[in-house]
Amino acid sequence: MLIGVFDSGIGGLTVLRSLRKAWPGHSTIYLGDTARVPYGSKSPQTVTRYAMQVAKYLMDEGVELIVVACNTASATALPELEKSLPIPVVGVIGPGAKAATDASQGGRIGIIGTAATIASGAYEHAIKLLRPDAVIASIACPLFVPLADEGWEGTKVAREVAERYLEPWLPGKEDRPDTVVLGCTHYPILRPAIGDVLGRDIQLIDSAETTARAIAPILLDEPDEKSPTHRVVVTDGAAGFAKTAKRLLGESMPPLEVVDLTPFGS
Ligand code: DGL
Repeated sequence: MLIGVFDSGIGGLTVLRSLRKAWPGHSTIYLGDTARVPYGSKSPQTVTRYAMQVAKYLMDEGVELIVVACNTASATALPELEKSLPIPVVGVIGPGAKAATDASQGGRIGIIGTAATIASGAYEHAIKLLRPDAVIASIACPLFVPLADEGWEGTKVAREVAERYLEPWLPGKEDRPDTVVLGCTHYPILRPAIGDVLGRDIQLIDSAETTARAIAPILLDEPDEKSPTHRVVVTDGAAGFAKTAKRLLGESMPPLEVVDLTPFGS
């Protein structure tokens, strides 16, 4: 089965990486909307319009399943995508919420994400459906995205930014969650810094891994392909993308393609 995966930019490659590891017998096409990144600071209407356009492109390429790797697009555009598309669409919020409720011992769950994801309340809603008694707190951490994009995840700056954002949950604070959802595609890249700052007793949930597992019901009856193919497509050929993508995907990073989405709407 050809699986379409999309994100506003590069971060969704963490989802693609998990997906390819879990389902090596299926072809993938990844679209990073680099011309319009970031989505996290835009309105739900704009993100939904972008997501619909990307989905139309992927459908045109023949995908039979779409994985919305972007937390912001999952939080704001998933209902519209599910309603409008004739193929299954899976977002990262549901699987991330499920993993968090499964992992949390005390039901104290923290969510970190972009401004749009946190404002949407999508994770809170999904977690409450699964565990109505959960105590949920959330923090928007917009600067984590450019830090990951710059490859600064291992720097002192990343640590300081993490300390500043995550101050209410630092060791010794009363309102510490026992589990924190990395509710943005870029945050798994900053996982070591976030983990160091929060302390090892807080469990970090990476929705990339859980989303790869969540598509099992769709893929189980699909036979493996003999020679699955993989494409990575962007909407703007920003020079840094290929380099960071290679760091995330290693040698399995295919040659980067650039597409124009104008024919698929505005
Ligand atoms: N991909 C976005 C997300 O997971 C982060 C980057 C952006 O703001 O577009 O929310």
